[in-house]
Amino acid sequence: MKYEYVATKLAELTDDILVCFLCETEKLSDKRLRALNEATEGALERMIASGEFTGAKGTTASFVNPPGLQTNHLILAGLGEAGKLTADSFRQAIGTISRLQPLKHARSAAIHFGGFTDRANYQTAIEGYLLGSFKLLDYKTGDDAGEDPQPTRLRFAVDRKQSLPGLRASVERGVVIAEGQLLVRRLTQTPSNELTPSLYARKAQQLARKHGIKCQVLDETAIAREKMGGLLSVAKGSDEPPRFVILKYNGGRDKTRPVVLVGKGVTFDSGGISLKAGLNMHEMKQDMAGSAVILSTLLTAARLNLKLNLVGLMPLTENMPSGHATRPGDIITMRSGKTVEIINTDAEGRMILADALDYAGTFNPQAVIDAATLTGASLYVLGYAGAPIMGNDDNLLNRIVDAADETAERVWPLPLWDDFREQMKSPIADLVNSGGRPAGTAAAGAFLEYFVGDWPWAHIDLAYVDLEPKGRPYVPKGATGFGLRLLIEVLSRWRKL
Ligand code: BES
Ligand code: MN
Ligand code: ZN
Repeated sequence: MKYEYVATKLAELTDDILVCFLCETEKLSDKRLRALNEATEGALERMIASGEFTGAKGTTASFVNPPGLQTNHLILAGLGEAGKLTADSFRQAIGTISRLQPLKHARSAAIHFGGFTDRANYQTAIEGYLLGSFKLLDYKTGDDAGEDPQPTRLRFAVDRKQSLPGLRASVERGVVIAEGQLLVRRLTQTPSNELTPSLYARKAQQLARKHGIKCQVLDETAIAREKMGGLLSVAKGSDEPPRFVILKYNGGRDKTRPVVLVGKGVTFDSGGISLKAGLNMHEMKQDMAGSAVILSTLLTAARLNLKLNLVGLMPLTENMPSGHATRPGDIITMRSGKTVEIINTDAEGRMILADALDYAGTFNPQAVIDAATLTGASLYVLGYAGAPIMGNDDNLLNRIVDAADETAERVWPLPLWDDFREQMKSPIADLVNSGGRPAGTAAAGAFLEYFVGDWPWAHIDLAYVDLEPKGRPYVPKGATGFGLRLLIEVLSRWRKL
């Protein structure tokens, strides 16, 4: 698909499809609507008078051969109440439209932003289009295989020439960010037999090379040399050897300390000896979502040429039961030297993250952020609606909350209280890997904190927000790619803590 940018009136556009926006509370007498109404020779007024379309959020109206225009097909997208508009309104409105049949089959489509001049809306409109129309068809055969149809040309139109440079820059940024998020969706939907730790590491290497960032892969021997006991203990039950991927993006000055990003990469979580129930176990192919977000964040940061230094750490392993597997009751010595009594082999994510966080300290980080599908208990904290975050630095947590407001990937902080720290102590070793059911999400955060050094750290629990159960305007049912927009926003605004 080709993108074009034009400054023109509605009536001049000859594209097969033309998309315009409407707010619920806008009046026909308002300047913006008056122009739209006049251009369509009153068709808008008649449509509104009929009560069929109000501009409510998530609604659309369609005119075939609209009067006054050269396009074959005018689509109005409802933005909801004018007073409640955010940049996400455009993501949602275009997300909804992105799956309409006439748009898919159009050769040329245009989106006219008449009256809307905030650059953020241009970015989110293209994000909504690319995210909403995403479909993974790689595993289909026959008639279902191949690409979903899409217009060959998508044109972005504004009223005034002065808006064009901003329009182009914003759309280009939106494309890079949406593609970053789609890579996360693609990786998380890849089945575990095609994304073993070693295949995943190779994939990371290929992608890193393509984007000009450094990538080093530690194999089992190198992991053992690093004494990453947590990672090794999880990998033990699997026939697939673990990997530890180290990515580096240097967009900042040579001597500036890096921000280190850590992502959980369990390519399949069966629970191990503490085997999970069968229902929905297939969803555990997505237990590497955190690492996918981190990988894609580094690649996207490189594409956006962000001015800072980043390190990405991806501990990769399967969690499987076998005669070699770690048992409940086993005691593991971690990279940091701390000992952990395994209560439940299904609490494996924190074991591999603990080693990775400890290793993060070797980079003298200015801050560390980890992302992980860590706790099922997350479902009872914020459900599918947002991600719990935790950490040791209020400034860093606030930055993540602010970025979430901007990107509409919601997060909310949980406390790390001494109660949870106590909960994670073992009578026989230093720590237990499971503190039982109470406050499961915060207790997991408290466990991680034992491996965090003297640097600002934040943890994002991606469990459930990585998977959309029903389908929303720009999030089709399935893998969401949650976290990419959020981290890119945090890093784009980065300044010393
Ligand atoms: N990967 C799971 C967490 C998870 C569950 C993510 C469901 C998404 C959906 C994690 O490894 C896990 O199994 N955690 C256990 C921890 C418990 C044993 C302390 C859990 O949440 O049940
Ligand atoms: Mn688990
Ligand atoms: Zn897991």
